[in-house]
Amino acid sequence: MKPKRIKVMRKVSIIGAGNVGATAAMNIARMNFVNEVVLLDIKEGVAEGKAMDISQCSRSLGFNTNIVGSTNDYSKTANSDVIVITSGMARKPGMTREDLVGINSRIMNGVVENCYANSPDAVYIIVSNPLDAMTYQAMKILEKLGMPDAYKRVFGMGGILDSSRFTYFIKNMLMKHDYDIPANNIHAWVIGMHSDTHMIPLIDTAYFVEPNTDNYIMVKDVLSNIECNEIVERTKKGGATLTELLGTSAWEAPAACIASTVEAIITRERKFMPCSIYRSEYDCCIGTLSTVGPNGIEKIYSVDLMEGENIKNLFNEAVKAVKNVNDKLPKD
Ligand code: NAI
Ligand code: 2OP
Repeated sequence: MKPKRIKVMRKVSIIGAGNVGATAAMNIARMNFVNEVVLLDIKEGVAEGKAMDISQCSRSLGFNTNIVGSTNDYSKTANSDVIVITSGMARKPGMTREDLVGINSRIMNGVVENCYANSPDAVYIIVSNPLDAMTYQAMKILEKLGMPDAYKRVFGMGGILDSSRFTYFIKNMLMKHDYDIPANNIHAWVIGMHSDTHMIPLIDTAYFVEPNTDNYIMVKDVLSNIECNEIVERTKKGGATLTELLGTSAWEAPAACIASTVEAIITRERKFMPCSIYRSEYDCCIGTLSTVGPNGIEKIYSVDLMEGENIKNLFNEAVKAVKNVNDKLPKD
């Protein structure tokens, strides 16, 4: 008898087919680890157009992912393994992420309800800003709708982006000291709020591994205090700097970070990264080191409770700042 072929369907839906959403769809498609990516947008025809454009890259780039566009038809997102929410406004030069809370929180309610009606078992990655508040809002709505373990299955992507920027600035500074270190060999993390003022780049514990050796070197042992402080300040202003240059917020690195996060869930290859996670002790979502895997957040490492007093104080300030934004969320 001919063996039965079992097809495992892996599907990701991305809400918002703008700069970040469409570029994330392109990255995920190229990485070839899902069968289908659905791009959904409220603007008539835009998601369909972008899905077609990305699909037409498949011959040149050699991928076999089906990409579907949808104008607000959520039935196309049904049974997704992962939902990525990027819908809403992006900041313009001079704006903070927090300035977006009114408009983006109004969009979030309907989007989350529609997604959950079609994909109750998905892991939800929130990207829209202000990130920590939007993640909290989405998690609370999903909890109310009956999602079990929403505190693990819903999280925000922000800390991995801030850590990528942190790594980039460290790499460039190390070059000045004749160290040419691949970004992947640099282990440097950012926790706290995804904001210009309250993100916390963990410079004291940042280290790198010299290529082809087992030499672990602390960044602080190579760079001066002035250089370390400069890196921390540049990281905090990383998003704002790009917004000034581009006239809107960045999308390439955010989309790469989304694709890498989705990969950890779909391929079950667990990855260590900071995400905006619900922390019951603070009653808010905030950037925290974690392991991401098939069920969403699998483990959290609350370094804010363990590191030196300075990190604790900075983290407490970040919690306060996040909660100030949460206060502006719609009350039911
Ligand atoms: P964009 O303006 O290029 O795209 C947003 C898309 O959302 C638009 O196509 C718009 O039509 C769509 N949209 C609006 N309302 C919708 C609704 N109700 N349903 C479906 N789609 C809807 O903006 P971009 O650059 O893609 O940024 C998207 C969001 O992601 C912004 O809030 C931005 O601040 C945030 N962001 C977050 C990052 C992070 O690290 N967490 C990094 C970069 C951006
Ligand atoms: C960024 O950091 C705006 O959150 C977005 O680029």
